[in-house]
Amino acid sequence: MRETEQTAAQAYRETFGDQPELVASAPGRVNLIGEHTDYNGGFVLPCAIDRRIAVAVGAGGGGGFRTRLYSADFDETRHMDGKDSSWADYPRGVAWAMGEAGHEIGAFRAAFAGDVPLGSGLSSSAAIEAATALAFDAFFGLGIGRTDLAVICQRAENDYVGVASGIMDQYASLLCEAGAALLVDCRSLEASSVPLDLEAAGLSLVVCDTRVERGLADTGYNDRRATCERAASMLGVEELRDATEGDLDLLSGAEKKRARHVVSENARVLQAVRALENEDFDEFGRLMYASHASLRDDYEVSTPELDTFVEAAEEHGARGARLTGAGFGGCAIALVPEDKTAAFTNACEQAFEGRGFEKPAFYEFVPAAGADLAAGIEE
Ligand code: GLA
Repeated sequence: MRETEQTAAQAYRETFGDQPELVASAPGRVNLIGEHTDYNGGFVLPCAIDRRIAVAVGAGGGGGFRTRLYSADFDETRHMDGKDSSWADYPRGVAWAMGEAGHEIGAFRAAFAGDVPLGSGLSSSAAIEAATALAFDAFFGLGIGRTDLAVICQRAENDYVGVASGIMDQYASLLCEAGAALLVDCRSLEASSVPLDLEAAGLSLVVCDTRVERGLADTGYNDRRATCERAASMLGVEELRDATEGDLDLLSGAEKKRARHVVSENARVLQAVRALENEDFDEFGRLMYASHASLRDDYEVSTPELDTFVEAAEEHGARGARLTGAGFGGCAIALVPEDKTAAFTNACEQAFEGRGFEKPAFYEFVPAAGADLAAGIEE
């Protein structure tokens, strides 16, 4: 078992005085390219990271309000009933969405533990949803497929927690494979793994957490979605996925800029997949930089901190770099020659200091496995 899975199992034993029956865990993600395309019916290319949230589940609990959920990270117990804007809303939302989809969730008890950085845009919420969904599926013998579980998790996030988001994060957490990125067609919901052997290419995936609160993220995100819908309806297409470069001339102002990003970004994702298939990381990196410029200039979701990181990355030898996730703060990624990562992060830190920004945090991740059930539960 992974460390987080052991921690969840141990937390279960300590809280409920009993052995859990199963442990499931699911990863956070970074998106390599394909930003703000998922809710436009377009393409995304995320990979799972080696940071996970685990849940240990067992029988008992009585069901309903009496069902207890324990979080080792927050060291607190909450009940299944009610909604309180805490971490517990995610498992509650998954149980609710499963009920809506016609699946019966009986009595259970659960303990959670994880190491996905919270609130940084690395999809800790999708990780807890995916881990819970997979655990319920196994524990109650529901037989739901991975893609349907992802849709249930998105429903939990959209309609129970109340955060508008596309399907990318839940798909990444449930369907990614180790050593690979995941190409998702967010219209057909078809997904396929694309090999991503960074080690063979001598590259490290460096993540910079700018530590900028994504305070306006919800408003900004909803505003971008609304503008895209307006642009699509002006063009008479169902979604911006259907728009072409030529259509852009029919638009103006914000609609034109947002649509230009979506149209060009969808094309970049498909080019990026071809680059990976050819192990052409120069081309892949070029597409990452182009994606960032488009998010900065056309989609206008970057921040001075994210831009500073990407500029420093370009200056200090990264093959590619871009903001990842929704933007408005949060994280950026870079592909850096593995023998240069220490010098690279130092240089980025200095760039931040020079501009009076808060000290960023750096992580190095490897493309990891999606959600799974832990093998043996030992004392
Ligand atoms: C957030 C959402 C995703 C996606 C990205 C932007 O992470 O949860 O669905 O829209 O923003 O690409």
